[in-house]
Amino acid sequence: MEFSIKQSSPEKQRSACVVVGVYSRGKLTAAGQSLDRAAQNHLSDVIAQGDMEGKLGSTLILQRVAGITAERVLLVGLGKAADFGAKQYLDAVRACMTALHKTAGKDAALYLTDLSVKDRDEAWKIKQCVLLASESVFRCDQLKSAPASAPTLRKLMLGCADKPGAVASTVLEQASATASGIALTKTLGNLPGNICTPTYLAEQAKEMAQKYKLKVTVLEEKDMEKLGMHALLSVSHGSRQPAKLITLEYQGADKKQKPVVLVGKGITFDSGGISIKPGAEMDEMKYDMCGAASVLGTMQAIAEMKLKLNVVIVIPSSENLPDGSASKPGDIVKSMSGQTIEILNTDAEGRLVLCDALTYSARFEPDTVIDIATLTGACIIALGHIASGLFSNDGSLAQELLKAGDTAHDRAWHMPMWDDYQQQLDSNFADMQNIGGRAGGSITAACFLSRFTKDFRWAHLDIAGTAWRSGKDKGATGRPVPLLTQYLIDRASSK
Ligand code: BES
Ligand code: MN
Ligand code: ZN
Repeated sequence: MEFSIKQSSPEKQRSACVVVGVYSRGKLTAAGQSLDRAAQNHLSDVIAQGDMEGKLGSTLILQRVAGITAERVLLVGLGKAADFGAKQYLDAVRACMTALHKTAGKDAALYLTDLSVKDRDEAWKIKQCVLLASESVFRCDQLKSAPASAPTLRKLMLGCADKPGAVASTVLEQASATASGIALTKTLGNLPGNICTPTYLAEQAKEMAQKYKLKVTVLEEKDMEKLGMHALLSVSHGSRQPAKLITLEYQGADKKQKPVVLVGKGITFDSGGISIKPGAEMDEMKYDMCGAASVLGTMQAIAEMKLKLNVVIVIPSSENLPDGSASKPGDIVKSMSGQTIEILNTDAEGRLVLCDALTYSARFEPDTVIDIATLTGACIIALGHIASGLFSNDGSLAQELLKAGDTAHDRAWHMPMWDDYQQQLDSNFADMQNIGGRAGGSITAACFLSRFTKDFRWAHLDIAGTAWRSGKDKGATGRPVPLLTQYLIDRASSK
């Protein structure tokens, strides 16, 4: 999808469709009033007839309105003007995109980004509009023999009454880059386990490295053995697919500037291993690599934006399958950090691959390390599918991530990680066990990781509930790419 932004009059648009909003009780927005004047009150006549009451998310298409150069006018209901906030704006833009795709038009001029939205600025409105429009054209049909025809709508012009702010064009570029990062993350997340293996992820990273001139390193199992990564390797024992530890390094700032390291869980299929999961919906465990997919998507986005900061991504990738040589409940392994772990449940494999990847991250002398993982079902119980779980050993880092999530409308919620929870990980036979019982399951998982991150500023995002949508529209959501890219954008601009 192509985007542009300009100061322009809605009635003079030579496009397939011009879009304006209508508040409750048929009250036209400023752009709507200009159209209405040019059309000699045709819009208000239609509204007076009762076909468009301005209910939030409702839409009405008018064809060939005299006095207006665009071929169609799309009216989008906005609800009560006084209630028009972030959620209402997003609902209206979504409804607008659905209606536009039902027409045969190739382009459209939207007058929605110039509406006033409670507590949100122009940059936010532009960015969200670009993200929603891009989402509306996302397809996942590479594996269908007859892919659906591509959407006809290709170009969107975001119109505004006043001259767009100086930041508008930067925002547009950043939003498009974020959108393509999200699309990559979704595509990878949707791929099945027989295609998207650890080796496949490594290939993707190599391709990205070539395209954006990044440094790529892929550690093989023998390399990991030399480093003593026995926690990570214990997970791939039951699999015929070799584990990989993938890193990509992006240098956008002075070499001396310490990088942000993003660590993404890359379990390309999680059967649970010997502690096997129940069969229902087990297919969805192909999305257990969405942490990895989100750091790849974020890397692509910031490389495309040419952000001025240094970022490294680290992906510990493996399958988790049962087999004669798979790890068994009760097995004890030594992690790269030297700490020993009693594996009481082979289905708590995410923390096993992450702990070694986190220890490995120290070699990049990071300023900050953030891991992103579909780590626990317990996090879904705690927060549902709306917020990602945020855990951190640094209060200011937690605040920065919360703020980025809020700005990007990709929200996280700060969870506690007090020492009092740590005792749930005590083991009779090793330094710790890999599960902490049912109570506070997402917290004890984070506590486990915290034992490997003592030397740096660290945060953990549990995205089990937010990376994937179940049900009829099942598929990857691309979260938390918006949060992560926003965090990095904020960081680059504060340096
Ligand atoms: N990948 C799962 C977590 C998960 C569950 C993600 C549901 C998305 C949806 C993780 O590896 C896992 O199996 N966690 C266990 C931990 C338990 C054994 C302590 C869980 O949440 O049940
Ligand atoms: Mn598991
Ligand atoms: Zn898992």
